[in-house]
Amino acid sequence: MSARSVLKALDRSRYEIVTIGITHEGRWYSGEGTLEALEEGRLDTLERVALLGEPGQRNLYRWREGAPLEVLSELDIVFPLLHGTFGEDGTIQGLFEMADVPYVGAGVLGSSAAMDKGLFKMLMQAQGIPAVESVVLLSSEIHRQVDSAIDRAEAVAPYPLFVKPANLGSSVGVSKVRSRSDLLEGLMDAARYDRRVLVERGVDAREIEVSVLGNEEPEASVPGEIIPSDEFYSYRAKYIDDRSELLIPAPIDPKTASQARRLAVETFLAFDGAGMARVDFLLERSTDRLYVNEANTIPGFTKISMYPKLWEASGLPYPALLDRLVDLALERQAQKDALVRSYEETA
Ligand SMILES: Nc1ncnc2c1ncn2[C@@H]1O[C@H](COP(=O)(O)OP(=O)(O)O)[C@@H](O)[C@H]1O
Ligand SMILES: [Mg+2]
Repeated sequence: MSARSVLKALDRSRYEIVTIGITHEGRWYSGEGTLEALEEGRLDTLERVALLGEPGQRNLYRWREGAPLEVLSELDIVFPLLHGTFGEDGTIQGLFEMADVPYVGAGVLGSSAAMDKGLFKMLMQAQGIPAVESVVLLSSEIHRQVDSAIDRAEAVAPYPLFVKPANLGSSVGVSKVRSRSDLLEGLMDAARYDRRVLVERGVDAREIEVSVLGNEEPEASVPGEIIPSDEFYSYRAKYIDDRSELLIPAPIDPKTASQARRLAVETFLAFDGAGMARVDFLLERSTDRLYVNEANTIPGFTKISMYPKLWEASGLPYPALLDRLVDLALERQAQKDALVRSYEETA
């Protein structure tokens, strides 16, 4: 859906667009009407394509079984619209780096640092940015030394706690637990999805989000607020029941709003963001304290998603936002190109 929105809004007089669709199995396809063909499972109308992790080519290759690779098109820049595993976690960014093709959004480090909620919280704490108390447990510990896993989880804070897979999203595998038996169930469930499981203090909080745009001098949008339709912003509240609300701008006092914007920029720099990220906060009701909850380096990107809507409310319309992201990607590439890539000691 993000890709569909972007395709619709990109300025065709400025960009020549090559669409690449990726199946659930990870196969790449391209051709006329990629999106529709992929949706309807009509892959035979498309061509298998591939990008090689070899610098200097920037080619998209047509890939036919038993035939030599043929260049289908040359890519000046890639705009990945892939949420979550393999798309947002630094893996595909690694391929773009190896191919030396410019791409929109965070690099390998920024993507993976924002993806792993456990590492992300440690990074925040190390830089004095408020994040809720948490601990990372490995699934091996959960399975083999469950008593120690429970002790370490319960040492984080009194119940309720939140349990989540460290590297996932869409609230999959996230649970709010109020007792030891809930905790055990939550740990087992989260460990189905990830080797690394995060346990956090549960905060009674409002959910505030800020869009960040830029590279090394990023800017923050006005904050927005999510009113989840469920007890927390669960998978159901996000995608199924259609009753969660987005309030733009967030109805919070100006001091909290400017603090959220400042923290969003600090967060972006702290995890080495680039291009864009949506930084999500928990605003604790009892203390009015803001905690950074997570950063999404490829946030939902439809016209009605929070990330672009916050920019629209801040005076940057969707098509102009796309142009900015492309320019920022090219700026990053130029910076990379200017780096010394080989070194010889001179006398
Ligand atoms: N520590 C917490 N305290 C209170 N609510 C939380 C906490 N952690 C997560 N949540 C709730 O769970 C939702 C999903 O968790 P989040 O960390 O944002 O993961 P995801 O990447 O799946 O969005 C949040 O939007 C919020 O509603
Ligand atoms: Mg979230």
